[in-house]
Amino acid sequence: MNVSYLIVTSRSPISHEKVNGKHVARENIGGVVTAMRRIMQNEGGTWVCWGDGRLDGDYQHEKLETYSIERVLLSKYEKIGFYDDFSNGTLWPLFHYFRERIKFTVTGFSAYYEVNRKFAKAIMENLDEKMIIWIHDYQLSLVPGILREAGVKNRIIFTWHIPWVASEFFATLPRSDEIMASIARSDVITFHNDTYAENFISSYRSIKGGYGDIRRKVHSISLGIDTSYYSTDNVRPLGGHSFNGRKVIFSIDRLDYTKGLTKKVLTIERLLRMHPEYSEKFVFLMIVTPSRTGVQEYLTMKRELEMTIGRVNGEYGSLNWYPIIYIYRKISQKTLLSYYVSADVALITPLFDGLNLVSKEFVNATKKGVLIISKFAGASADLKEALIVNPNDLEGTAETIVRAFKMGHDEKMARLNKLKQNVQNHDINWWVNEIKNFSDGSQRSTTNG
Ligand code: G6P
Repeated sequence: MNVSYLIVTSRSPISHEKVNGKHVARENIGGVVTAMRRIMQNEGGTWVCWGDGRLDGDYQHEKLETYSIERVLLSKYEKIGFYDDFSNGTLWPLFHYFRERIKFTVTGFSAYYEVNRKFAKAIMENLDEKMIIWIHDYQLSLVPGILREAGVKNRIIFTWHIPWVASEFFATLPRSDEIMASIARSDVITFHNDTYAENFISSYRSIKGGYGDIRRKVHSISLGIDTSYYSTDNVRPLGGHSFNGRKVIFSIDRLDYTKGLTKKVLTIERLLRMHPEYSEKFVFLMIVTPSRTGVQEYLTMKRELEMTIGRVNGEYGSLNWYPIIYIYRKISQKTLLSYYVSADVALITPLFDGLNLVSKEFVNATKKGVLIISKFAGASADLKEALIVNPNDLEGTAETIVRAFKMGHDEKMARLNKLKQNVQNHDINWWVNEIKNFSDGSQRSTTNG
């Protein structure tokens, strides 16, 4: 039987916007969307997603060259309940262990359930018996259960892209049983590392009282990148004058409390306090991209971050130099690649992160850089030759930056070559193929060694 995929994500691959009075179709970037686009372009199929672009209502059913997009349109009320309240106000902090930020409201959950039903309806309207349904991430956890209740028999893959917490912590979520019951009705359930997969299995056991067939369904397969998209063969570093020959520490993150942005700035402060000899010898190029601006916490966090950057620059800067160059906006792919090749050190220090693809992109792109990565980023399990830190240990992380500055050429290249090998051997094609192997019913279990 010739199978095809029906992909389901909250984010859409393309948004239709109005920019300066003109219609613009924007390709959204990001690991999941980039990966899925590749399958759709190669093999065709249907993609069900949220149409949140300002003009997406005019493109609810869009036929592209190789695949089609079916957009679920949401009212303002549905958007607030589904996206701001339950997805980003309840599930996001819960699954990143930010207990004090978790807000549960019955109205948020109801809106989430209704929007998941809308997604399920759009799936059923576009389904044929040969399709494999591939659902992504925490915004859509109730969809498998709703589909099964409606009698859908197709194979369902569910890929969870954020951490899965310890079972006691998951149990603190009201309605956690419903979420678990739904996801467990998928045929294949994938996570980005072994810890998340094991946490999920133990959450299942504590809710259901046994393992059933869950161990057979769950797999740990770490998402890879499209290495050709992040290739820097023809990219030149920014000219020496840009940084006056100083070492460049680089980071790029969405503005999110899980990313540990203020702690990163405080780490730079510790570095300057403990090692005044590095004053004026480096710059920290910190790119932060706007995200979830409808959620109050995100706005508060921006103020706190910017005040801390201002204070550290004020205390340690001089007429000729500021330690932190802070940029708050989206940057183009071309600019990102030129930063990757200019950086001596990438400082990837989230407090919790499902994977963090920036770390893999940097490894693929850099020709000389040292990767410093938080032990709480899922990708640290794949990138063992990086310098691995605890981002809560500001002094330890500051000392690790100094270690990276001082690292000899041979050690740097030996680490980098192994890292590159891993990223290239476990790229996006590898990831897709691994999951496809399971989706046809085979029972292998695998991890990204
Ligand atoms: C994380 C999630 C994705 C999400 C992305 C951007 O990577 O795992 O599901 O799409 O953040 O967040 P946003 O709220 O803009 O979709």
